[in-house]
Amino acid sequence: MLSYLVHPAPHVHGAVTVPGDKSISHRALMLGGIAAGTTTIHGFLDSEDCLATMAAMRALGVQIDRPAPQDVIVKGVGLHGLQAANRTLDMGNSGTAMRLMTGLLSGQSFDSELIGDASLMKRPMERAAAPLRLMGAQIETSNGRPPVKIKGGAHLVGIHYDLPVASAQVKSAVLLAGLYARGATTVVEPAVTRDHTERMLMGFGCSMESVRGKIHLIPPSELQACEITVPADFSSSAFFIIAACLAVNRVFTVKGVGVNPTRCGLLDILALMGADITLTNHRAAGAEPVADIEIRRAELKGIHVPESLVPLAIDEFPALFIAAACARGETVITGAEELRVKESDRIAVMAEGLKAMGVECEVLPDGMRIQGNPDRGVFSGGRIDSHGDHRIAMSFAIASLRSRAPIEIDDVANVATSFPGFVEIAGQAGLEVVQCSSP
Ligand code: S3P
Repeated sequence: MLSYLVHPAPHVHGAVTVPGDKSISHRALMLGGIAAGTTTIHGFLDSEDCLATMAAMRALGVQIDRPAPQDVIVKGVGLHGLQAANRTLDMGNSGTAMRLMTGLLSGQSFDSELIGDASLMKRPMERAAAPLRLMGAQIETSNGRPPVKIKGGAHLVGIHYDLPVASAQVKSAVLLAGLYARGATTVVEPAVTRDHTERMLMGFGCSMESVRGKIHLIPPSELQACEITVPADFSSSAFFIIAACLAVNRVFTVKGVGVNPTRCGLLDILALMGADITLTNHRAAGAEPVADIEIRRAELKGIHVPESLVPLAIDEFPALFIAAACARGETVITGAEELRVKESDRIAVMAEGLKAMGVECEVLPDGMRIQGNPDRGVFSGGRIDSHGDHRIAMSFAIASLRSRAPIEIDDVANVATSFPGFVEIAGQAGLEVVQCSSP
């Protein structure tokens, strides 16, 4: 088993650049694969999750070349050019890969079956399967969980679908199936979620409209290949943004980060907590906005996190819980029950770790109440079980900025699903993370 041993280190310094965006990398492979022509992807995230999508697209007949780890050339086969895989498609740890591929495969002429690792095999898939069935797809799950079996040859029709949960994965699954449907598809979100699929579909020439949470897609006859530059992943940057808020430093910069407003809820939450964060050097990577993020030291205060910001920061809560433990006063998070069905139950697992390090917190059905303490040594140090969840592992690593003693974090191999090179980049920033393996 892989573990991290993290020594207390009160400073971060300089600047870092984190790897490419995971959500965008998955989508670039899928849309590039079904476009007409060759799509070039720069800044691709070379992580286990995205490599699972790449392997699946190759198994479906798409030729994908990699002149460099972050440069990918996808020879699109056209909207109707995918071929049956001769094996079950293993999506590893990735909920995004499994749900989006379910949408994409619903419109094909052949049967497919999707499986994943132990964590993914426990995650809910009916949320994607249910609307796809309304479109005419034939999908079977096992008590709502994988394996997901998709029967080919269904004739899909466009639907109007009111999403019951604010999920970009479900929205995207329906839109991908909508590419193969007769008639237009409309998805209405209960709250805004990340819109990378919509932006990228437009970049591939698809005719669509997105106004105030209502997304309307007209099926194209083909998608047109394009060039995609993937910005640095905001969710990976989040660990360093929070680390810098907690550190004794003057200014710290995370460079070239994707700052799509549907991803940056954490910045609004931290601003409410009193953080001093500035976005500079604004530019664009195709359809996605990019900026450098500068963080200056400021004491954080506890808040009740507005529920409207929850879907815009859904992957950042493990790290935010660490910030809340270091803030003055109480922080309350509600309306975040989705955290229970991520790579782990992130409410239960974070509460277990916080309590093990001496933080007073109360688990709520849909969030947590955390009693913060701005003292330098708020965390006692000790041993944490990440339950194989990458974001839990990295969150407790940044707790070392305010820890009295070393933190040992077990079961960290899954950091490779989203953030290859985390240990090295954390080291550049000034954190002291050592990776160890034990039998
Ligand atoms: C993602 C959407 C989010 C997020 C996940 C990536 C995506 O999930 O948690 O890490 O790429 O669409 P939900 O849409 O299910 O909340």
